[in-house]
Amino acid sequence: MKWIGKIVLLCIFLNSCQSVNKKNFPKANYSIIPKPQFLSKSNGVFELNENTILSYDSTQEKNVLFFTNFIKNKYGILLQNNNPKSHKKNEISFRKLNTKLNHQQIHNITIESNTISISSTTKSGTFYAVQSLIQLIELNNSPKSKTLYIPNGIIKDWASFKHRGMLLDCCRHFFSVSTIKKYLKLMSYYKLNILHWHLTEDQGWRIAIDSYPKLTEIGAYRKDSSGIYGGYYTKEEIKEIVSFAKELHIDIIPEIELPGHSQAAIAAYPYLSCTNEKFEVANDWGVFKEIYCAGNDSVFIFLENVLNEVVELFPYKYIHIGGDEAPKYRWENCEKCQQIIKKNQLKDEHELQSYFIQRINNYLKSKNKSIIGWDEILEGGIAHNATVQSWRGINGGKQAVKNGNQAIMSPTSHAYFDYDIKTTDLKKVYAFNPIPDSLNEKEKKLIIGGECNVWTEHIPDENELDNKVFPRLLAMAEVLWTNDKNRQYNEFKSRINSHYPILSNKKVKYGIEVVPCKIEVNNDNAKINLIKADQDLTLKYKWLNTNNSYTYYNDSSLIDVKSDKLIVQAFKNNTNYGKPISQLFKNHLGLSANVSYLTSYNSNYKGNKELNLVDGKLGSKDFRDGCWQGFWGKDLKCTIDLKKIKPIKKIGARFYQYNNSWIFFPKEIHIESSADSITWKKWGTVNNKKSNRLRGKNIQSYELTNPKTIARYIKIHAKNLTTVPLWHEAAGSGAWLFCDEVIIE
Ligand code: ACM
Ligand code: ZN
Repeated sequence: MKWIGKIVLLCIFLNSCQSVNKKNFPKANYSIIPKPQFLSKSNGVFELNENTILSYDSTQEKNVLFFTNFIKNKYGILLQNNNPKSHKKNEISFRKLNTKLNHQQIHNITIESNTISISSTTKSGTFYAVQSLIQLIELNNSPKSKTLYIPNGIIKDWASFKHRGMLLDCCRHFFSVSTIKKYLKLMSYYKLNILHWHLTEDQGWRIAIDSYPKLTEIGAYRKDSSGIYGGYYTKEEIKEIVSFAKELHIDIIPEIELPGHSQAAIAAYPYLSCTNEKFEVANDWGVFKEIYCAGNDSVFIFLENVLNEVVELFPYKYIHIGGDEAPKYRWENCEKCQQIIKKNQLKDEHELQSYFIQRINNYLKSKNKSIIGWDEILEGGIAHNATVQSWRGINGGKQAVKNGNQAIMSPTSHAYFDYDIKTTDLKKVYAFNPIPDSLNEKEKKLIIGGECNVWTEHIPDENELDNKVFPRLLAMAEVLWTNDKNRQYNEFKSRINSHYPILSNKKVKYGIEVVPCKIEVNNDNAKINLIKADQDLTLKYKWLNTNNSYTYYNDSSLIDVKSDKLIVQAFKNNTNYGKPISQLFKNHLGLSANVSYLTSYNSNYKGNKELNLVDGKLGSKDFRDGCWQGFWGKDLKCTIDLKKIKPIKKIGARFYQYNNSWIFFPKEIHIESSADSITWKKWGTVNNKKSNRLRGKNIQSYELTNPKTIARYIKIHAKNLTTVPLWHEAAGSGAWLFCDEVIIE
């Protein structure tokens, strides 16, 4: 074919594409996350191809390069990226925005069939405009496209909060430089701008400090069941990560924990503790009493030297100094600490903690840095330049801003992504409101933003990290960027669906949005009902021992209770949605009985309320699984009405013990039965067979048999210890009694 022929054919082909797509782009997808503050859609599309011209001035070179690299690396399209003149045809222009509005990272994007114009007052504003444009490209084009369609429209956008963060704990488990880079890219894609990097802990010190080499030689490694676990970041790696983040407009705030969570440092340098004893790097989870001594100048010299090296690596305004969960036991028993209390006329160890933090704060102030600390730093007084990160709910944040301090909100209720989806699902994160309504305007302005916190005790690797962080991070990103007061979860969900293929493409092994189904037992007919969390899910179930294959569950089918484990698998688009959910059942004569309580269960552990003890659902070792009903400081007394007289041979009740959480087996239980609720037959007493010192999570059945009984009514009286025994650290406070089922056979 001659050249001229090729050109004619190419033109016909291009024209036909244009006529299909420009006039009519039926699948135009505008599902940008976080949702822009203002978006208007219009007909038509811009076509990006290798003839697209980029016009910009030299201040925008980096952003243009970011864009052209993305287009080149993902689609193989080479854009000419150095053209200051405007062509007004097949052009993307980057301009300065002239506006009197001074919102954070404000930018506009206008997409028309011939041109795209991007404008912003700042480089970071332009960067986020480019990220929105990239999202529009990925939402509307398959990864193999060579011409990219971008639907027309206008976006005017800005950030609601200046601090949009994610905390990553690299101490409980260590994450490689490449995982951190992957997360930085994902964070910036969703317009988060702070990585709060948790670098020191009881279980590992992860940042190289030249003047104290043992911090990483000893402090970075712990002995666990599989051998030695650990790792740390060299200064070169940290510099590489900081500069990588800078290109993505992300600041990194290192967290150097003090005075608590410091056992790894103490393991490396025992003189840092009150006792000078030698301890190992912690190899268990929890809060430890080995903390820095507050009465020893050499501790402050150590911390100042460490911080000198830290501030060299992180060229930002803030250093996070932790301040949370510092048990005061060692300080109470340390002469040097007590002397400081006396000398400085401090009231108690809380004021000593405040003294400790103030000293560090003053030092960092001399280095031109400001501190952020967890809300415990409010206890005992706080410097006016400190920022409080509220985690034990939002009250710390409220108290901080009322005090005139800045606050960052990351309450456990909405922002802890290490928590299971059972407690913190996508909808809950999306409902997060970082600014409590009760604050006045001045106080509201002091809330600079929020963070999602990812503690990694139970997140050993990148796959599990992806599973826990996504898709919840998208909800948090939208809350912190858009903060739309009228946000609608269903609308958000329709957008998030478009992001799953994009996340897969970025090799993110995202988790689920919600627990896919609830397993309930109907009170009237004692049959199991599976309730889907979402219409786009399908459910299949099987019994562990009687069935090897799954049975499809449609919404009207009901399942007979068996004494076996029910396993339910949810599916979305024909692929497994989450892991199988299992529930242990017991089929017995009490199912669907009426229970009247003479003592009331606690509102925090209601279980299945009035049905709990007779729903056939047996609890697991997780006492928060919804099957356990809790009684605080009182006995369990109830009467069960089987609704008709039945022959009964055996009655049993199951209880739970986890003395760490003050849950103890009952001392004894009494059982009685009656046919008419007037004359009662005493079955006897079952005593506790296990010690209440028994550690760990335990379940025990209290049972009596009485073969010749006919009864309609059953009385159960389980005796609570009422108070925690003397040998317990928390002796005296009320004890819990937890019961999941009364089994009648
Ligand atoms: C925290 O979760 N201990 C801040
Ligand atoms: Zn001390």
